[in-house]
Order: sequence, then C-alpha cells, then structure tokens
Amino acid sequence: MAQVFSKASNRLPLIALVGGLGFLLFTIWFISYYFSPKYTDVGYAPKQPVPYSHQFHAGELGMDCRYCHSNVENGAIANLPATQTCMNCHNQVKPESVKLLPVRESWASGKPIEWVKVHMLPEYAHFNHSVHVNAGSKGGLAVGCETCHGRVDEMEVVSQVQPLSMSWCLECHATPEKYLRPAELITKMGYDQSRPADQEAKNLEVIKKKGIAPPTNCSACHY
Ligand code: HEC
Ligand code: HEC
Ligand code: HEC
Ligand code: HEC
Ligand code: HEC
Repeated sequence: MAQVFSKASNRLPLIALVGGLGFLLFTIWFISYYFSPKYTDVGYAPKQPVPYSHQFHAGELGMDCRYCHSNVENGAIANLPATQTCMNCHNQVKPESVKLLPVRESWASGKPIEWVKVHMLPEYAHFNHSVHVNAGSKGGLAVGCETCHGRVDEMEVVSQVQPLSMSWCLECHATPEKYLRPAELITKMGYDQSRPADQEAKNLEVIKKKGIAPPTNCSACHY
C-alpha cells in the first residue's frame, strides 16, 4: 500500500511549534519596536510634562531658537534649556500659573524637567548639529533648522516632520545646493517656502569653490 503521509509529516507538529514560537517572538519584537518611545517617525508628537508652546514663544514672542538651544552651533547635540532659562521670565511672568507648576517645582528641587524626546536616531547612526548649522567650511552657507524640523514657530506641540531615514540624509548629501541657505538665516522660519530663485545657482558656485562634499561613505555616519 502506498504511503499516504511521508515520513516528513511526522515533523509537522515540531515545525508548527517552532514556527509558532518564531511568530510569537516576531510579534513581541514588532509591538515593542513600534510602540516603544524609541521608535519615532513623521507625525510623532508626544505629550510633554509642561504645555510649553513654540508657536507662542518662538512664533508670537519671536524668541530666537538659540536662546534656549544654545549649544546647537557648537555641539553635536542641540541641548534643551535649563529650568533657569524659563525662570528668567517666569519668576515674573505668570508666577502663579498652574501650567507652570512643574517648572517651579523643578526650580525649587534642582531636578530637571523630564521633557520627552521627539527626534531620535538609532544608536548606530551619528548626527552632529554643529557641522550642519555652522558655516564652518561651508563658505557662509548652512542648513536651517526649518529644513530638518519644519515650521517649529507654528507648532503648539513639537512634532517630527522629516523621516530622518538614511535615504533622507543621503538625498541632501547628494544635492546640497537645493537646501543650503545663508548662514545668518539658520534660525529664520519661512525661508524655505520663499527661497530666492537664484539661491540654488549661488549655492552651486560656493559648493564648487569651497569643495563642499557631504559624505556618502558608510563610516561617516556609522562608526
Ligand atoms: C523658550 C525656549 C525655547 C525656544 C526659544 C525654542 N525652543 Fe525648542 N524646545 C524647547 C523646549 C523646552 C523643548 C522640549 C519640549 C518640547 O518638545 O516642546 C524644545 C524642543 C524642541 C525640539 C524637539 C526636540 C526633541 O526632543 O527632539 C526641536 C526640534 C526644537 N525645540 C526646535 C526649536 C526651534 C527650531 C526653535 C526656533 C524656531 C526653538 N526650538 C525655539 C525650548 C525652546
Ligand atoms: C522671554 C520670556 C520667556 C521665557 C524665557 C519663557 N517664557 Fe513662557 N511665557 C512668556 C510669556 C510672555 C507668556 C504669556 C503670558 C501671558 O499669557 O500672560 C508665557 C507663557 C507660558 C506658558 C502658558 C502659561 C499659562 O498659564 O497660560 C507656559 C506653560 C510657558 N510659558 C512655559 C515656558 C517654559 C517651559 C519656558 C522655558 C523652556 C518658558 N516658558 C520660557 C515668556 C517667556
Ligand atoms: C540637517 C538636519 C538638521 C538640522 C539643520 C537641524 N537639526 Fe535638530 N535634529 C536633527 C536630527 C537628525 C535630530 C535627532 C538627533 C539624534 O537623535 O541623534 C535632531 C534633534 C534635535 C533636538 C533634540 C536634541 C538632540 O540634539 O538630539 C533639538 C532640540 C534640535 N534638533 C533643535 C535644532 C535647532 C534649534 C536647529 C537649528 C539651529 C536644528 N535642530 C537644526 C536634524 C537637524
Ligand atoms: C538638508 C541637507 C542635509 C541633511 C538633511 C543632512 N545633511 Fe549631513 N551634511 C550636509 C552638509 C551641507 C554637510 C557639510 C559638508 C561640508 O562641510 O563639506 C553635511 C555633513 C555631514 C557629515 C560630515 C561631518 C564632518 O565632520 O565633516 C555627516 C557625518 C553628516 N552630515 C551626517 C548626516 C546624517 C546622519 C543625516 C541624517 C540624519 C544628515 N547628515 C542629514 C547636509 C545635510
Ligand atoms: C549621511 C549619513 C549616512 C550614510 C553616509 C550611511 N548611512 Fe546608513 N543609516 C543612516 C541613518 C540616519 C540610518 C537610520 C535610519 C532610520 O532610523 O530609519 C541608517 C540606517 C542604516 C541601516 C539600517 C537599516 C535601515 O535602512 O534603516 C543599515 C544596514 C545601513 N544604514 C547601512 C549603511 C551602509 C552600508 C552605508 C554605506 C553604503 C550607509 N549606511 C551610509 C545614515 C547614513
């Protein structure tokens, strides 16, 4: 009599078990990856411990980004402001506000406010603010905050507007002339929407003259 089931079918339960286990592990990984705060993508706008508004402070009051993010031109990381920076105004402006209670508590205790991170690259990819926003080698040109972070001056709550993916980095590194602006305008908002028509041609000239060549070799960003 012909064998209906091959020998291999004896292993079916085992295969199902291993497969099932693999699927379970994958599901756990998937959930922890996508729902952990480490995974940030376009539109990510976590709730903050204080309802601080960029739209009001940077937009309406017109404060420069560097008043609070003071390391951005000289360091890899754009620092968040110390509580003292808020208190420069808020020991007199709205000193009784309930919304500012965590700020006053932080000031009294010396414990920093626990802001929730919005933008975050994986650990294996390295980004440095100063090389982008500082004119340095770039002959008076730089990348504006707006180009990577969008119209922060219009954000009630900060959200991520660019994918921060590898191809996003490389797209600009391949054609920086489309994105660079005069370095004195790095914190200016609205420039990208109203770029002068001849800026790209001017950029190309400087790029050639100064030999500006953003890296595309793997070890520049992965080390
Ligand atoms: C009065 C201080 C202040 C000013 C001025 C200010 N910021 Fe901020 N910024 C903060 C604080 C506080 C946070 C953290 C809370 C939050 O995300 O809203 C922050 C967060 C951010 C983040 C998100 C950081 C992350 O976690 O990824 C970006 C991007 C940013 N600011 C850009 C800007 C830009 C661009 C400007 C100028 C247009 C600016 N900021 C002006 C105080 C300030
Ligand atoms: C240059 C001065 C200045 C600085 C610095 C400043 N603010 Fe303000 N902030 C103001 C003014 C002015 C208002 C509006 C007050 C009003 O509505 O009467 C305000 C309003 C607020 C409000 C709303 C308060 C309410 O009850 O409606 C919050 C929350 C706030 N600021 C948080 C912060 C935080 C957090 C920082 C530090 C990262 C900060 N501010 C830094 C000037 C400042
Ligand atoms: C070329 C793109 C680019 C430009 C230009 C840029 N940023 Fe960023 N920014 C990023 C990236 C990418 C991150 C996430 C970095 C990380 O996770 O290591 C980030 C993170 C931040 C953070 C969170 C703290 C940190 O450094 O991780 C703040 C605050 C910030 N940027 C503010 C600014 C301000 C203010 C400017 C303008 C003066 C600016 N950025 C210009 C790409 C940019
Ligand atoms: C909008 C344009 C733009 C974007 C987006 C951008 N870069 Fe750059 N990057 C530049 C320019 C311009 C330079 C400077 C080249 C020079 O000075 O010769 C540069 C330089 C660098 C360098 C070389 C630093 C050095 O010490 O010479 C690294 C590394 C780098 N970028 C990483 C990144 C990473 C990682 C991302 C994405 C998260 C990114 N960049 C996104 C424009 C950009
Ligand atoms: C200008 C900076 C930059 C350069 C150059 C670069 N990478 Fe990346 N790479 C990144 C960033 C940023 C990420 C993280 C992307 C994310 O979080 O989605 C990344 C992610 C990756 C990943 C993870 C998978 C993925 O696509 O997210 C691999 C693998 C990788 N890079 C390999 C390489 C190799 C190989 C090279 C050289 C051919 C290279 N990278 C060059 C910035 C760079």
